[in-house]
Amino acid sequence: MAESNAASSPAAGSTPLQLHGGGSLRGRVRVPGDKSISHRALLFGAIAEGTTRIEGLLPAEDPLSTAACLRAMGVEVSAIRAGEAVSVQGVGLDGFQEPGDVLDCGNSGTTMRLMLGLLAGRVGRHFVLTGDSSLRGRPMRRVGAPLAKMSAVINGRKDGNFAPLAVLGQPLRGNRIHTPVASAQVKSAILLAALTAKGPTTVIEPVQSRDHSERMLRAFGAQLEVGGPGLTEVTLTPGSSLRGQPVVVPGDISSAAFWLVAAAITPGATLTVENVGLNPSRTGILEVLEQMGARLTVLNQRDVAGEPVGDLQVSHGPLQPFEIGAELIPRLVDEIPVLAVAACCAEGVSRVTGAEELRVKETDRLAVMARQLGAMGARIEEADDGMAITGVTALRGATVDSETDHRVAMSLAVAAGIASGTTTLHRAAAAAVSYPSFWDDLQRLRS
Ligand code: S3P
Repeated sequence: MAESNAASSPAAGSTPLQLHGGGSLRGRVRVPGDKSISHRALLFGAIAEGTTRIEGLLPAEDPLSTAACLRAMGVEVSAIRAGEAVSVQGVGLDGFQEPGDVLDCGNSGTTMRLMLGLLAGRVGRHFVLTGDSSLRGRPMRRVGAPLAKMSAVINGRKDGNFAPLAVLGQPLRGNRIHTPVASAQVKSAILLAALTAKGPTTVIEPVQSRDHSERMLRAFGAQLEVGGPGLTEVTLTPGSSLRGQPVVVPGDISSAAFWLVAAAITPGATLTVENVGLNPSRTGILEVLEQMGARLTVLNQRDVAGEPVGDLQVSHGPLQPFEIGAELIPRLVDEIPVLAVAACCAEGVSRVTGAEELRVKETDRLAVMARQLGAMGARIEEADDGMAITGVTALRGATVDSETDHRVAMSLAVAAGIASGTTTLHRAAAAAVSYPSFWDDLQRLRS
């Protein structure tokens, strides 16, 4: 793939996609690189000394947004193409040039939030960040407020909550910061700001969120300690410079989730998803599939460059309903839309609670899934902080819309596979945000 959207994808352009129900799924698939790890490899490589060589970087729109922002500040990032390693020439902790234009974060919340932490301490330099209409409607004060406790100056619409955001770099001071939401984006932004603050910074989360930043910052040479009940306290002590490293990005478990659910619910299906990242702060989906009695086996477990990895084999079988509560949400926050599809195939009521964070993702995923999957006949009762889904429901083909959300597009495609008749999916191209080859893989795996 060239460094743009996959023009040859069956979902390219604005023509809605026709998805036919029936048939099965069979074979092996390697999902593209983990999105969270890809962003971090680019960002940490940029502020390190020397070269960072990244294997398996996700060649999708979100990491391309991060790379474009870094290039606009003078960082050399080689072309991002599927199957090719990417190299980043680090400029050091304080080496970013002031960009001559607005930094465009596209659809990517991770780009904007981590970038805020990275730029807050670039003394005397001015940065403006914006994004697409979805990103401009997502809350940013959750990052701006803790950074302000470190003396950062970040302004934006609605008291700094919405982009466009202006950052005027300041000398920062370390602090002890409690975050109200378990968010790896918020935690990572604070840790990045802490790298050049005066004195140590401690972030305390209500529940541990994904820990890719902690693992990778340590590997790059940062001084970082993790502790507290349930690993909810992270302390970073500034003073060490970061050194460029080789990074190997495992497959994204959030992308694998579509195949895991598809195989579990499609009659006759068996799929093996290879090289999937199995970091324990991300494997909530596997626990839920186990709870449902899915036929799932983890094979060939290994450690790749500081992250656990394995192959996942899943086959169709009868499913029981699940219960997902607040404690589990951070470990499967991006997988709820596709789990809503799985719930339609389980006998009884599946429940998600404590998931109000879903309302501020790329779309309001509780409302969008209730609306779109509901159009296919799903019985979903939406609540403020979650939903209840009653199964078994025979889904039927319908005209549906991703509403621009990549994970909604792919979840609806999984639902279309078991629905009767044909589903017309509008704005299917949204999948390119995290998984540009999804439609090609779907075509290949269908039997
Ligand atoms: C991400 C963290 C999660 C997740 C997002 C990627 C990250 O968001 O939903 O897709 O890379 O840190 P929050 O940390 O805001 O929950």
